[in-house]
Amino acid sequence: MKEGLIDDNINHEYIIRYLRDNLKEQSGLLLELEEYARLNKVPISQPESIRFIEVLLKLCGAENILEIGSAIGYSAIRMSRAVNGRVTTIELSHDMAEIARENFKRAGLEDRITLIEGDACEVLKDLRGEYDVIFMDAAKSKYMEFFEHSVRLLKKGGLLISDNVLYKGMTASDDLLRRRKITLVRRLRQYIKMLSEDERFDTTVVPIGDGVALSRFN
Ligand SMILES: C[S@@+](CC[C@H](N)C(=O)[O-])C[C@H]1O[C@@H](n2cnc3c(N)ncnc32)[C@H](O)[C@@H]1O
Repeated sequence: MKEGLIDDNINHEYIIRYLRDNLKEQSGLLLELEEYARLNKVPISQPESIRFIEVLLKLCGAENILEIGSAIGYSAIRMSRAVNGRVTTIELSHDMAEIARENFKRAGLEDRITLIEGDACEVLKDLRGEYDVIFMDAAKSKYMEFFEHSVRLLKKGGLLISDNVLYKGMTASDDLLRRRKITLVRRLRQYIKMLSEDERFDTTVVPIGDGVALSRFN
């Protein structure tokens, strides 16, 4: 994807540019969604992060995926297509949910992707099923709460992917921390510490995109 690069304090700009230059450019609907997200300032996964996730899904042969945070449906479409898998995705905003549903239809994936509209903190309580992969990509301040439910919903051997955990480098360094982000960053730090110490999981944090935590449920 050719676009102005944000200085994200995680990787050098020349590394990000190099990684992106080596990614296949999207076409058709996905390219349109990338453009829509850029013009309307909808946060969707960074190109190198979603590519990383696609490869992970293929590696673990994921068939059943749960996503928290659909936005316009971009990552759900990419994940479903990557493995021809089923995706259940949760979105709080009614407007986003409407757009995402329309995009799933346009992608011909309305039978493989199910969108549940609502606050994931509530939706997850009633959700049943066993997921191979859970992709957490909403309300960073609530990751701990999402996590409590994810443990119940994740298959043994399954993978929890938590996006944006380095949050523009602020999670790792007080020097980068902006005052109004203090509470959020404190929560992210607690989340990473908790994940790293939880013996049911093997966790590693990968400094790609905005920081992706991978946690295998043992
Ligand atoms: C970063 S965007 C998701 C991007 C999407 N995964 C992608 O890469 O295409 C985060 C989304 O989470 C939604 N969200 C925020 N809080 C939520 C909550 N408590 N429950 C469900 N969705 C929530 C927001 O409305 C927003 O659309």
